[in-house]
Amino acid sequence: MENNIAYHIPVLFNECIDALQINPAGTYVDVTFGGGGHAREIFSRLNEHGKLIVFDQDPDARQNAWEAPNFHFVPTNFSFLKNHLRLLNIKQIDGLLADLGVSSHQFDEAERGFTIRENAALDMRMNQNAELSAYKVVNTYDEAALTSIFRNYGELSNARLLAQEIVLKRVEKPIETTSELMSILSRFAPKFKDHKFYAQVFQSIRIEVNQELEVLKSLLEQATEMLAPKGRLVVISYHSLEDRLVKNYMKRGSFEGEIQKDFFGNVLKPLNEVVRHPIVPSEEEIQRNTRARSAKLRIAERNVG
Ligand SMILES: C[S@@+](CC[C@H](N)C(=O)[O-])C[C@H]1O[C@@H](n2cnc3c(N)ncnc32)[C@H](O)[C@@H]1O
Repeated sequence: MENNIAYHIPVLFNECIDALQINPAGTYVDVTFGGGGHAREIFSRLNEHGKLIVFDQDPDARQNAWEAPNFHFVPTNFSFLKNHLRLLNIKQIDGLLADLGVSSHQFDEAERGFTIRENAALDMRMNQNAELSAYKVVNTYDEAALTSIFRNYGELSNARLLAQEIVLKRVEKPIETTSELMSILSRFAPKFKDHKFYAQVFQSIRIEVNQELEVLKSLLEQATEMLAPKGRLVVISYHSLEDRLVKNYMKRGSFEGEIQKDFFGNVLKPLNEVVRHPIVPSEEEIQRNTRARSAKLRIAERNVG
C-alpha cells in the first residue's frame, strides 16, 4: 500500500480526511480512487469492522488498489453507486468522498488527449472502453450541439463561430488530433490568452465526452440516499459548473438552487452544509502542486429527520 504520487498528488488531503470524521468501524466510499492517495489514508484509519469501497471508471487506476477483506475496488462509473453498494450488501454509508475530474496520470499520458500541451488523437475518455470520444463529438455533432457545448461547458462567448468553423473544416477531412483542432480554432484564440481559450475548449469537450455534469447530479442524489443520518458528503470540484451544482444541492437540495418544499410548506433539504464557504488550497499547497489551484472543497452532513 504505497503512496503513488507519480500517479496523482492528492489535493486538500488533510481537509478531506478531517471532513469525513472517520469512525474506525464505519463504511466509507471514495468514488474517485485515482492514485488512491485519499483512499489509503481513509483505509488506515479503519479497524477490522470498517469498510472502504472505491470506484474508478479508468481501468488504469486499478494498479493502485490493494487486497484486503474490507477493501473493494469497483471499476465503474460512480453513477452506478447504489447498484454496486447493493451488490456488496451495503445499506448505508458513513461518508463519501468525490475528488472530481481528471487525475494527473490521465493528463500526463499524452495519448489520452486531455492536454493542450502535446499532440494526440482526439480521445478524452476517462473510461477507455466508453463509446463516446472527443473524435466523435468533434466530427459528428451538429453545429447547434457543438455551440451549446462550447457555450455551456466552456463558457466561451464566441461558441457559435467555433462550432461553424469546425463544421466547415471537417467536410474537407475529419479532425483527428488535438493539434488539428487547435490549429482550426487558432484564429479565434485571443492573443496572450490563447492558453486559457484552448483550455476552455478542451474542458467543454471533455465534459461532454464524460457526461461529467449528468453523472455528478446522479452521484449527489444517490450519495444522499445512501448516507446514514449525520453521514458526511465531501466533494472537491475543479470548475465552476461542477461547483455550482454541488453548492446548490448542498445548500438548497436542488441543482438549480431553488428551495424545495413539501405539500405543507416544509423545506425539503436532505443535507446541511458543514461550512458555508468552500475550502480552497493554501498558497503553499498550490506552490507544491499547481493542479490544486482551482480546487474547491464542500462538505455537507445528512439530515437526521
Ligand atoms: C482527481 S482524480 C482522484 C485522485 C484521488 N483522490 C487520489 O488521491 O489519487 C479523479 C479520478 O476519478 C475518476 N473519475 C472521474 N469521474 C468518474 C466517474 N464518473 N466515475 C468513476 N470514476 C471517475 C478519474 O478516472 C480519476 O482517476
